[in-house]
Amino acid sequence: MENNLPVNVREYQELAKKALPKMAYDYINGGAEDEHTLRENIAAYGRIILRPRVLVDVSKIDMSTTLLGYNMPSPIIVAPTGGHKLAHPEGEKATARAAASCNAIMVLSSGSSYKIEDVASSCNAIRFYQLYVYKWREVSERLVRRAESCGFKALVLTVDTPMLGRREADIRNKMVFPPSANLEELKKINVDTTGGSQLEGFARATLDPSLSWKDIEWLKSITTMPILLKGIAVEAGVAGVIVSNHGARQLDYAPATIAALEEVVKAVAGAVPVLVDGGIRRGTDVFKALALGARAVMVGRPVFFGLAARGEAGARHVIEMLNGELEVAMALCGCRSVGEITRSHVMTEGDRIR
Ligand code: FNR
Repeated sequence: MENNLPVNVREYQELAKKALPKMAYDYINGGAEDEHTLRENIAAYGRIILRPRVLVDVSKIDMSTTLLGYNMPSPIIVAPTGGHKLAHPEGEKATARAAASCNAIMVLSSGSSYKIEDVASSCNAIRFYQLYVYKWREVSERLVRRAESCGFKALVLTVDTPMLGRREADIRNKMVFPPSANLEELKKINVDTTGGSQLEGFARATLDPSLSWKDIEWLKSITTMPILLKGIAVEAGVAGVIVSNHGARQLDYAPATIAALEEVVKAVAGAVPVLVDGGIRRGTDVFKALALGARAVMVGRPVFFGLAARGEAGARHVIEMLNGELEVAMALCGCRSVGEITRSHVMTEGDRIR
């Protein structure tokens, strides 16, 4: 196998499917209800066309960028995804090492199978911490303080999950989630699993559906870390927004994220960086997102698939492949730096109608 490595994310997905029990693969791959948005997240990228540029000296391509003042060698960030032990016994520790070896920022999920402290000590990298607001604010507060004292640099507050979307594969499989290491205090609660998915039962018991703008004020009052909002746009004095539909696992028939990006970028009008995630499987997808105004992108399932297929090496290879593909896309579009990627390098469906 090692002589015959996958050459793209889709091949990693196939390997992951073979390697994983059905319950784990379905949990990673699946989306909400009819999975319309899941298909659209990917299909919408396919409808955006690139405009090549030639006879530009592209002997040096610089993919680096910055976010919140941190230098990144490329605009690719590892999205927060929970339960990496489902894919590999080393779980998030392996993923964090993979990200660190590429100098990529990793956002650690609050559904991590390993404790914040264990992931933090397993490698030296810039890390952000993803937070859910629980019914018990003191639990969220403790997580924030632990992340801060472990040197995490920013908080990613997920605001699209006041309750869990209906992930029917998980319901059917009676999905059992690996214990979330950070949430020891929550393990005592009674999780109702009559609905099938244990994850859904856990989410129902713990996530606070009353989450609203005032909670962002509260969060700002307990931390000095900058806050990125994931799953929504603008305001409330945050440091950035992430255009995300949670990998199509929450509201089905929500728009594909790449289709919503430009509108959000216009509304934000440069006030804060805008990131996007969902459906990115190619370097050309990263290029398209940047052309439509994203500062950086996050990838979820691809890294998870890499981890499932080949552990840390697989997760690292996925990030490297996406970086390599982005480099080629930039060269063939005549862009020597990410700053040279412009709106005129892409043609969307809207452009064709106009
Ligand atoms: C997620 N996502 C997610 N988001 C979050 O804020 N907290 C979490 O714990 C998780 N967990 C999670 C698990 C799995 C298996 C997946 C696939 C996704 C959403 C994630 O951060 C991101 O928005 C999407 O994964 C992006 O879409 P792609 O790249 O998977 O298509």
